[in-house]
Amino acid sequence: MIDSNKKDMSKPNQSKEIMDRKIEHLKIPLEYDVQHSKNYFDDLKLIHYPIPDIEFEDIDLTATFFDKKISAPICISAITGGHPISKEINEILAKAAEQENIIMSVGSQRAGIEDPTLLDSFKITRDVAPEIPIIGNIGLGQISSQDFEIEIFNKCIDMIQADVMAIHLNTLHELVQDKGDISSKFFRKNFQKVRETYKIPIIAKEVGTGFNQDLAEILDKLGFDGFDVGGTGGTSFAAIESKRKNFDNKLYSRDPAEVFREWGIPTPVSIIYVRNVSQKLVIATGGLRTGIDIAKSIALGANIGGLAYNFLKSAWKDRRDKVISNTIKEIKTLKNELRSCLWLMNVKSVDNLKSKRNKCIFLGELYRWFHQ
Ligand SMILES: Cc1cc2nc3c(=O)[nH]c(=O)nc-3n(C[C@H](O)[C@H](O)[C@H](O)COP(=O)(O)O)c2cc1C
Repeated sequence: MIDSNKKDMSKPNQSKEIMDRKIEHLKIPLEYDVQHSKNYFDDLKLIHYPIPDIEFEDIDLTATFFDKKISAPICISAITGGHPISKEINEILAKAAEQENIIMSVGSQRAGIEDPTLLDSFKITRDVAPEIPIIGNIGLGQISSQDFEIEIFNKCIDMIQADVMAIHLNTLHELVQDKGDISSKFFRKNFQKVRETYKIPIIAKEVGTGFNQDLAEILDKLGFDGFDVGGTGGTSFAAIESKRKNFDNKLYSRDPAEVFREWGIPTPVSIIYVRNVSQKLVIATGGLRTGIDIAKSIALGANIGGLAYNFLKSAWKDRRDKVISNTIKEIKTLKNELRSCLWLMNVKSVDNLKSKRNKCIFLGELYRWFHQ
C-alpha cells in the first residue's frame, strides 16, 4: 500500500494505523467504484489482419525482464504487504506468478521496515516463488526523508531477495490523504546515494497519475533503469481516499480527494511520453484490463503490461475459497487474449509488436492529447 511518512507518530500507533489503512486500501476498490471515469485504452484501436499466416500456437509470448526470461510480458503490480491478510494475498499472487512464470511485485515495504512483525507478509512472496522476478517497493516519501538511511533500501532488497526495486511516486495520493508527506526536498541527494551504493535495477513507478515527458527525461539521466508509467485510466487513489472520508470540512469547503479524482496523464499518453525520451524498460500500468490492453501498451512502446485491480479481485476470491485457481485463470486469460490479439494482427511475437505505433489508431480524447 502507498504510505505517508510522518515521523511524529509513536511506533505501536503507527503500526496500527498502517495496518488499518492496508485493509481499507484493499477493501475499498472491491466495494466501491474507484476507477477513473474514462479508460483511455478504449480510445485506441489496433489494426486487424484478416488472413494471419502464422499458426496460433506458434506465437511467441516470451519476454525478458532484466536478466530473467518470463513466459509473457505480464506483471502483477504492487498491491499489498504489512498485514496478516496482505500476507495471504501476497502468498496467493506469488504462487500463481511462479506457476505461470510472470513478474510479481509487492506493495510498499515501509511497514516491514518499521515493524519486524509485519516482515513475513512481504517475505512470503520469495518463500513461495523462488525463481520469478520480484519487484520490491519503497515510497518517494521514504527516499526523500531527511533522516533516510541507506540501510532501509538494503532491508527492502533482503526482505524478498528483490530482483528489481521500484520507487513509487505518489504525490497526488500523499496530497489528498490525511497524513500525507508532500516534501521531496532530499530526493535527489538520497537517490544519488542509493544509486552509487546499489547495482540492482531501480525503476520509477507512478501509481495512477502518469509521467510527463520532462520528468521522465530527468529520471532517466539521474540513473533510473526503467519506469512503471502508472497512468490515469484505472484505479484512482484519490477516489480511494475520498471513500476513506478523512476530509476535515472545518477549513475547506470541498474534499480535494473528490476534486482531484480524475487528475493525471492517461496511461497510453504516458507510455509514449516516457518512450520518447528513454530507451530503458517500460512497464505500463493504469487501467489495463485485458490482453488487448497489454498488446496496445507494447505497440505504443512498453515492454511489459502490469495489472493491480484484476489481480486484487482474483486473489480476494482465492483467499475466500483457499485456492489460487482464480488468479491462475486470470493470468491464463490474459495470455490467451494477448496471443489472440497478436494472431489477429499477424504479428509473430511480442518482440515484433514492440513500438509498432503504425498499428495503432488514436481516437477521441486520446487523439486530442497529441493534436491540441
Ligand atoms: C489496493 C491497491 C494497493 C496499491 N498499493 C501500491 C503500493 O503499495 N505501491 C505502489 O507502487 N503501487 C500501489 N498500487 C498501484 C498499482 O500498483 C497500480 O500502479 C495502479 O493501481 C494502476 O493499476 P490498475 O489500474 O490495474 O489498478 C496499489 C493499487 C491498489 C489497487
